[in-house]
Amino acid sequence: MTRRQPRPLPEPVGLGPRDALHLLVSLGDFQSRMTRDQDLPTVFDATRLLLRRLLPFDTVGFMTVEDETSEFRLVDCEPEEGLAALQEEIDATVDDGTFAWSLPQRRAVIVPARRRGHSVVLHPLLTRSRVLGMFAGTLESAGPHVTDVVLAALSVILFNTAQALENAALYRTMKEALAARDRDREAFESAADAIFTVDLDGRFTSANPAAARAFGRAADEIAGTSLLEALGAEHAEAARRMLEEAGRAPGGGVYELTAGANGRRVTMEVSARPLVRDGVVTGVQAIGRDVSRRSQADVERRQAHTMEAVGRLAGGVAHDLNNVLMVMRGYLDLMATRLASGEPLGGELEQVRGATDAAIALTRQLHTIGRRQALQPRPVDLNALIADLDPALRRLGGEAVDIATVLRAWPGRIDADPALIEEMITSLVRNARDAMPRGGRVRIETADAARGSAPHVMLAVADTGPGMDAATRARIFEPYFTTRERGKGAGLGLATVWGIVQQHRGAIEVESEVGRGTTFRVFLPAAAAHGGAAAAAGADGVAGSETVLVVDDEMPVRSLVRDILVGLGHRVLDAEDGQAALRLFEQHGADVALLVTDIVMPRMSGRALAERLLERRPKLKVLYMSGYAGDVLGRYGVLDPQLAFLQKPFTPDALGRKVRELLGPTRSPQPVV
Ligand SMILES: Nc1ncnc2c1ncn2[C@@H]1O[C@H](COP(=O)(O)OP(=O)(O)OP(=O)(O)O)[C@@H](O)[C@H]1O
Ligand SMILES: [Mg+2]
Repeated sequence: MTRRQPRPLPEPVGLGPRDALHLLVSLGDFQSRMTRDQDLPTVFDATRLLLRRLLPFDTVGFMTVEDETSEFRLVDCEPEEGLAALQEEIDATVDDGTFAWSLPQRRAVIVPARRRGHSVVLHPLLTRSRVLGMFAGTLESAGPHVTDVVLAALSVILFNTAQALENAALYRTMKEALAARDRDREAFESAADAIFTVDLDGRFTSANPAAARAFGRAADEIAGTSLLEALGAEHAEAARRMLEEAGRAPGGGVYELTAGANGRRVTMEVSARPLVRDGVVTGVQAIGRDVSRRSQADVERRQAHTMEAVGRLAGGVAHDLNNVLMVMRGYLDLMATRLASGEPLGGELEQVRGATDAAIALTRQLHTIGRRQALQPRPVDLNALIADLDPALRRLGGEAVDIATVLRAWPGRIDADPALIEEMITSLVRNARDAMPRGGRVRIETADAARGSAPHVMLAVADTGPGMDAATRARIFEPYFTTRERGKGAGLGLATVWGIVQQHRGAIEVESEVGRGTTFRVFLPAAAAHGGAAAAAGADGVAGSETVLVVDDEMPVRSLVRDILVGLGHRVLDAEDGQAALRLFEQHGADVALLVTDIVMPRMSGRALAERLLERRPKLKVLYMSGYAGDVLGRYGVLDPQLAFLQKPFTPDALGRKVRELLGPTRSPQPVV
């Protein structure tokens, strides 16, 4: 293709004064419109309107420069059907170099079109600094209308168009920046973290709503107020350090700030960095995260760990003491029965017996805390239990304390040891009464509750007493923690309650605030629907003459049991372990009606021994003894109700009754095969 030389068309004709005036007015219009409507189609439409007034174009098209590729693309054409043809005309000018040549020109370039009798008009769209695109139009070449003045006017219009395009681009950029700022603003406003800036005196210069909440101020009033004042004298130190260090250090740091807003204490982990303007530190920018909830969870975890450890210790000590106490108590009983009444030492003996009983009661409590007490669960109607207990609780509450019960759990049945549940409720009510020496109200409530997927029964004991602060609340379940006067409370009440709850596989929660009373809520697994009968006990006569095999690895216990049973008229064989017991049974077994055995023994457990003996004599009766419930049935201390079991320490009386229960009421020797 030959290169076509651009040339102004011949026979230039001047623009008449009327036309010039019209053009000027239109141009004014155009400019004012361009400041309002700045999207590309609008710019192109308005431009086209003006251009068509100037020259009778067949086709009017606009090209823009693609941002990424810097290529020209025809983005607008009128009429639309003319687009392909116009594109072909443009391609031709590209091919012959006219297009490239026209770019640096600040005026129109007109060349013959491929379409016969037509011309192509190219005019770059450029601002002072850059090329934004190209105007391309076609018109019939002949005609007197294309004059220098017209072409100059064309240039004026298209410079305006370029400016409008530039504005549109700027406007778009600006709109995007504004949108980004709005997004930032929104994040700032809705952030869960407290975001704020303070000057070096600690006055807030900005704060998001989370920060305002944390510092207990209204969002629109926080600016200008003091961070130090918001924290209060007690907690201002960390903030003072933050301000001081930010003033020195370029990097910033992490601080723990505690704000007590509206009676709610918020502890924040704050990362702070200095705000620098013109090389001078003017303040601090900080982002704070509420760690109070997290630390609350930590406290609870630590508390649970402490209770585990303390419980283990208590249970272990109680177990070892038990054996000692049982022996003491047993021999004291034997001595008492052998002393003729009026014997000079009788009174002293009673004293020792009383003290031993107190010690035994204490080990029982330690057992409960250590969750090692033998639990003998049976289906219990919690509502009925509370109703039965009600008179005792009212007595406990006394005149000044008003007790209300609201029993809403239905059917309110749990698998439980009723004695322990009574102890738990009594302890909670006693605490409530003790907290309200000048009277108040206690409300005992049951309700159905779901925890996890399992149905539970909830028991709540709420009082209108003085409540507790956080420090007290954190420690109440610890054994020997008490706020009562010396000698008034041992601090074992709630530790025992905790043990009972754990043993029943339940959970306990406390809600309490100073001045707002206290509510304890206990959640216990609801009983699966099944029946169950407690074995009936209670024969009056406990004496007997059957042969009993006693097995315990601890000599004093073994001797005591033997002495008690012999005292009751039984014949007793005793062995220190399973092997010895088997041998004895081989030799003298024909007469043995009952095996009384410890459970945990070296080499062979009581269970294993019993199984061996039962193989030989299925009708043999077996009575287990232990200091642990855990010995018997794994982790939860739940006893198989089929097994006869005696919790150490036991009284001679309890042993006698249990033995009688197993052997039946007959006093004569039982034939056993
Ligand atoms: N209802 C309550 N209101 C206020 N404080 C309570 C309440 N219940 C318990 N406390 C606090 O918890 C502490 C521990 O209670 P806990 O029952 O374990 O021991 P105690 O009552 O002090 O002594 P004990 O129960 O052994 O006689 C109490 O000293 C008291 O500070
Ligand atoms: Mg108590």
